[in-house]
Amino acid sequence: MKIVLIGFMGSGKTSVAQELAKKFGLEFIDMDEMILKRFGMASINEIFSQKGEQEFRKMEGEVARSLANKENVVISTGGGVVGNEQTMQPLIKDAEVIHLKTGFESAEKRVTQKEVRPPLFEDVAKARQLYETRIPLYEKYADIIIDTDNTSLNEVLAQIEVKLGQDGRE
Ligand code: S3P
Repeated sequence: MKIVLIGFMGSGKTSVAQELAKKFGLEFIDMDEMILKRFGMASINEIFSQKGEQEFRKMEGEVARSLANKENVVISTGGGVVGNEQTMQPLIKDAEVIHLKTGFESAEKRVTQKEVRPPLFEDVAKARQLYETRIPLYEKYADIIIDTDNTSLNEVLAQIEVKLGQDGRE
């Protein structure tokens, strides 16, 4: 089984992916962490400030390609992967794609609780615009959509389990 979690910054992808991996006995992979390791960078913010977003997207694409044939894995993606079809194709190959859907306000709340804000959330008005343009993309790629607003982590996990079963590809 290959599960790919997509969704906006602050949608809870990493926590849900970690728990799903535990629950199903799968390997957990965080794409942002993979990028840092592969390219020897200290943080995503460092990549954005030193190399720029375009370079980050290239790194993201390379990591996505390396994940094309991965099995028995739950992958937490960065919120921007959906912006690039060439990144998405290898990433979602043979995968069940789950969109963790969140309202902008909930996402903002979660992000502001983090120690460091993601670079594309530094300006809230711009982040909101980004959110609006990305929602249709998340929907386009998703096999399963889970609404995470006012939903506990356990409830999200339970809903995913039910929907994966319904999809019959578990
Ligand atoms: C990004 C989201 C971040 C990270 C980078 C770009 C985006 O990941 O990949 O800052 O474009 O939405 P999270 O969604 O895990 O915060």
